[in-house]
Amino acid sequence: MNEHPLDLSFDPAGIVLDRRLGLSRQLYQALRERVLDGRLGSGARLPASRDLAAILKLSRNSVVRAYDQLYAEGYIESRVGDGTYVSQLKKLSTKPSTGLSLGLSTDLSTYSSKNTEGSSSSDRSGDTLERLKNHHLPPPKSGPPRAFRVGVPAFDLFPFQVWARLQAGFWRNPDPARLGYGDPAGEPLLRELIAAYLRRSRGLSCSAEQIVITSGAQQAISLCAQLLLKPGDCVAVENPGYRAAAHALSLHGARLEGIPVDGEGLDCEVLETLADCRLAYVTPAHQYPTGVTMSLARRLSLLAWAERSGGWIIEDDYDGEYRYNGAPLAPLAALDQHARVLYVGTFGKIAFPALRLGYLVLPEGLVQAFSQACALAVRHSEVGAQSVMAQFMAQGHFQRHIRRMRRAALSRRNVLQAGWPRDVPGLGPMPEVAAGLHVKVDVDTLAREAELVARAETAGVEINPLSSYWLDDQTPVDNHAGLVLGFAAVSEAEIANALMRLRKAWR
Ligand SMILES: Cc1ncc(COP(=O)(O)O)c(C=O)c1O
Repeated sequence: MNEHPLDLSFDPAGIVLDRRLGLSRQLYQALRERVLDGRLGSGARLPASRDLAAILKLSRNSVVRAYDQLYAEGYIESRVGDGTYVSQLKKLSTKPSTGLSLGLSTDLSTYSSKNTEGSSSSDRSGDTLERLKNHHLPPPKSGPPRAFRVGVPAFDLFPFQVWARLQAGFWRNPDPARLGYGDPAGEPLLRELIAAYLRRSRGLSCSAEQIVITSGAQQAISLCAQLLLKPGDCVAVENPGYRAAAHALSLHGARLEGIPVDGEGLDCEVLETLADCRLAYVTPAHQYPTGVTMSLARRLSLLAWAERSGGWIIEDDYDGEYRYNGAPLAPLAALDQHARVLYVGTFGKIAFPALRLGYLVLPEGLVQAFSQACALAVRHSEVGAQSVMAQFMAQGHFQRHIRRMRRAALSRRNVLQAGWPRDVPGLGPMPEVAAGLHVKVDVDTLAREAELVARAETAGVEINPLSSYWLDDQTPVDNHAGLVLGFAAVSEAEIANALMRLRKAWR
């Protein structure tokens, strides 16, 4: 441990900041880069924020914000009364990226030859029809949202008037050049704006060319399965996890392996025990449904697994806009130096799911294949929704709406936390909710879970049983029990009212 406040491995003079841009973000990125490439080793001490502010001629606030973000993401830790140190992390590979073409072109050619093989033997269309019989998603909850519907944001706050104006503007006098067939990867302006948004809000350095617009996250996941897997490939999914993704992967022939999730996210040690695992599907920002944020150590282990094994990672950042303490965490795709991560985003949690608008951010070497697959399946997504979303973003409505939605979700979360019934036998306490639109609460036994859900239903309150999020091949056991509640779908008053009814129903 180096006790000197200005460790020699840390050279603040090497940090050059562009004064026209966000300073704390740049400082955070510069420090993060130094931790990841080993220039700032585990245990290195960082200068006090006041000292670093003086050296870099910044406000102390900018340094504190950068340190806070690094702290939230696990890069640094502080010891009371002692100072700020780089966390103890397994050493990251400092090998520069080997570029995309080699690894990926081999992968893609393997992919096509494997697929040809597959089609001649086990992957006849009849097999897909056969598999489909085992892939029923539960019917979506119908009717207007009520407490505590999972997976939907605050529809009541969407600026429909703005949307209608932009929509009318687009269709009033559409450019004939845009009415034929467009780019299969999506409208160029929308892709530019999404890339800029991800660079700014997630620190994900990507270009418009890496983005493919999809019909929501579901099509994005399904495309990954279609293009990266052959029947029988082993695919790791979080267990419990997002069943719609698991179904899509398995429909394309994946042999699913459920990996346990603990307080740090997907258990990478279990992942490492799988022979020939080809792909891992994860929700690191906010695990679905447990709500855990994947720790930095696990993120690095997962990336190291992908690099070592040549596996792919689908990173589903379905609700990353909703973080209630500090900025969203840097996604795996931002840390990926070896082009193994396919990042999935959706507008469904900020606008509404029925819009069916999402996107993939792909390693460069995969863009052509994904574009081609889109062209063959659907030509491209519908032009109107894409163009209106582009204008919605370009004119600043999107950013404003994100802020509004985050505030509303936070306030709705607070009402749920404050009014959560205590002393209900078998029901755990409401945990701290730091992100997302839903929360998981523990329940002692499966029998008690069923009883609490049924009684809630009779009181007109929607609650999902945690046991429904486990893979089918697992025998349900009591520690699979819990309740999953969405807290953003309805107003604070409706939440308070639903809580009152729940308290009576559960008495
Ligand atoms: C984990 C996860 N991913 C993605 C989505 C959204 O998918 P889509 O954009 O297809 O509506 C959801 C919706 O509930 C989800 O829970």
